[in-house]
Amino acid sequence: MEKEPRKLVFRVTPWIFLLVLPLFYADVVWRNNIQFEQRLHYISSTETISSTRKINTNETVGEKKESLDFLLSKLVKGEDQEKLKATGFACNTQVYSKHCIANKPVWIDTTTMTVTIPSNQPVRETVIRPYARQEDDVLLSTVTPVKILQGNTTLPVCQYNHEIPAVIFSSSGFVGNVFHEINEIIIPLFITTAQFKSRVLFIAEDHSPPFLKKYNNILSRLTSHEIMNPSANQTIHCFPGAVVGLKFHGHLALNSSDIPTGLSMSHFRQFLRESLNLKYHNVSQINRPTVMLLSRRTTRRILNEDEIVAMMEELGFRVMVVARAKVVSNLEVFSSMINSCSVFVGAHGAGLTNELFLPDGAVMVQVDLIGLEWAAANYYGNPARAMSVHYLRYKIEPEESSLLKVFGRRDHTAITDPKALPVQAGKEVYLNGQNVRINVARFRETMVEAMSLVRDLTL
Ligand SMILES: *[C@@H]1O[C@H](CO)[C@@H](O)[C@H](O)[C@H]1NC(C)=O
Ligand SMILES: *[C@@H]1O[C@H](CO)[C@@H](O)[C@H](O)[C@H]1NC(C)=O
Ligand SMILES: *[C@@H]1O[C@H](CO)[C@@H](O)[C@H](O)[C@H]1NC(C)=O
Ligand SMILES: *[C@@H]1O[C@H](CO)[C@@H](O)[C@H](O)[C@H]1NC(C)=O
Ligand SMILES: *[C@@H]1O[C@H](CO)[C@@H](O)[C@H](O)[C@H]1NC(C)=O
Repeated sequence: MEKEPRKLVFRVTPWIFLLVLPLFYADVVWRNNIQFEQRLHYISSTETISSTRKINTNETVGEKKESLDFLLSKLVKGEDQEKLKATGFACNTQVYSKHCIANKPVWIDTTTMTVTIPSNQPVRETVIRPYARQEDDVLLSTVTPVKILQGNTTLPVCQYNHEIPAVIFSSSGFVGNVFHEINEIIIPLFITTAQFKSRVLFIAEDHSPPFLKKYNNILSRLTSHEIMNPSANQTIHCFPGAVVGLKFHGHLALNSSDIPTGLSMSHFRQFLRESLNLKYHNVSQINRPTVMLLSRRTTRRILNEDEIVAMMEELGFRVMVVARAKVVSNLEVFSSMINSCSVFVGAHGAGLTNELFLPDGAVMVQVDLIGLEWAAANYYGNPARAMSVHYLRYKIEPEESSLLKVFGRRDHTAITDPKALPVQAGKEVYLNGQNVRINVARFRETMVEAMSLVRDLTL
């Protein structure tokens, strides 16, 4: 007889959060291919700040100017830095990101999103769409272009004069999906602007109020000024310098040797803990080994969740099951729930981005489905390690995947060689068409290992 799932869960665990709401999952797994693999880099969290520079509020105008120049010029390297020194303007282009720096006065017309940098050279035009997904033409076409005019051109009259630099970025993109929000906007903003110590004005084009509200606690620590919505403030603004577009270091990654102040992933996690008032820094502060099982409700579902929960409890874990829901997308609530857990378990998906809120020494267990190995490793597995979080991968066998029934046999190419499928078909099959019935006995071994990593730490 089939057990009533909810009833069982309630019987075995007193605190359960089951809220089911539609979710967004604008996966782009299939838009990325293997050749980008080499570009991904993750850094160890043991790195320390290599250079810091405090802004003295009593600096003279000259010193202030010099320090702003110093901070801006750190955002580019090598040839780009030389070019910035020589012309006051330089851009850097990578696979995923593109950003431009002006370290001299700029005029920004927010009606047309035109940045003018006067000089006595003939006019040169650069157009950039400031979102860290430059390889994705479809997405990029939804990002408002910023036109940068550098040279001998007529200047509009300033309506507002600012003493701090402007940073222009798009707040739309894949907003609604926590992986993309943090990967393409929040981390790049931290990388690009933490050094300004809040003395910076954000111009968020493609203004997304839900996104800005959700991340308000974080954004308000990066800027002490109100975030400008250019389409609601159609005027001419003058700034002593500007950044258009954000630096990006790879999926959920920060490369401390390429951040002006030498900040690292551990600084970023500390910054998140402070912004969101998270209680636990280290898993040893959690009294009883607690597992968070992220329950997906549409695709990539774990079909025998109740058995998994029972097994985890038998091992001595306290278990929280959270269905993808309003809870999951409530950053304040969900980050503090994750932060109070020693182990986080889930099938591959954007919700795993919340591993960022786990305490140091906690364990991330990813259920790695057929055809999603690359994304599983590069989006969540390798980043977890850089976060001082242990990463355990539970690679499923074909027998555990619902796809075995679909394709009939274990040696079907769709099972043995997922890359053989065209991208769009692959996305439908592996991301949207796959559920898993986990082999409890085999998964138990992974959970025993997880327990061994956290048990001895707690009192
Ligand atoms: C980090 O950035 C530095 C400086 O740009 C670069 O030399 C290094 O290769 C990067 N590290 C990784 C792991 O990509
Ligand atoms: C800045 O200058 C004011 C007045 O000159 C002085 O009272 C204040 O202590 C100074 N602050 C700092 C951080 O030096
Ligand atoms: C700059 O513009 C002025 C007036 O439009 C023109 O006379 C001059 O030749 C221009 N100089 C350069 C370097 O293009
Ligand atoms: C436009 O921005 C300026 C300066 O940032 C601000 O003072 C002004 O109130 C804004 N205007 C509107 C209509 O939002
Ligand atoms: C967490 O704290 C424990 C005990 O204080 C310590 O041994 C361990 O190194 C810490 N873990 C991390 C990842 O910092």
